[in-house]
Amino acid sequence: SEMSLREKSIVFIGFMGVGKTTIGELVAKKLYRDFVDIDQEIEKMFQMPTSQIFKEFGEEFFRNKEKEVISQLSQQRLKIISVGGGAFLQEEIQKICLSNCIVFFLDLSWDSWKERISLIIDSRPVLQGRSLEDIEELFYTRQAIYSNHHSKVETDNLDIEEVANYIVDSLK
Ligand code: S3P
Repeated sequence: SEMSLREKSIVFIGFMGVGKTTIGELVAKKLYRDFVDIDQEIEKMFQMPTSQIFKEFGEEFFRNKEKEVISQLSQQRLKIISVGGGAFLQEEIQKICLSNCIVFFLDLSWDSWKERISLIIDSRPVLQGRSLEDIEELFYTRQAIYSNHHSKVETDNLDIEEVANYIVDSLK
């Protein structure tokens, strides 16, 4: 059956460490909706952090789980969903999210991201052992996949509360 715009789940996309989880949680609270973080769902399934899932089972395994969990959740109504920064590498995930949900891209400039790197790098298997130049290249390659969205928020000069309010207002 057709889902009305107001019932659609919201999906947050963007590079690692831009705040998809924190902002998603806050938006969920403001809209009285349930929040789901895809990485956390997968971590619960396997009782281990994503970094360890990558290490023990490999990235392809993780990506398949990611697709499975997102396919399921994105078809539910009224959810606030944050997906991992690599989810939109899979065209199938892009399609499912863009057709069922409202997709918000949380954008941050490379310069701002770089300042936060020490807070982000240790828990992200994809960034391990890469030089800063390498990570910068990855950052810009990923920007291209995030261009598939419905709405975008520039988060550079906003705090978390301001970003969440902006998103909630834009849905009215
Ligand atoms: C990944 C991002 C991570 C997590 C995994 C892979 C990526 O999610 O899914 O480590 O390839 O960008 P966050 O964007 O929440 O860090």
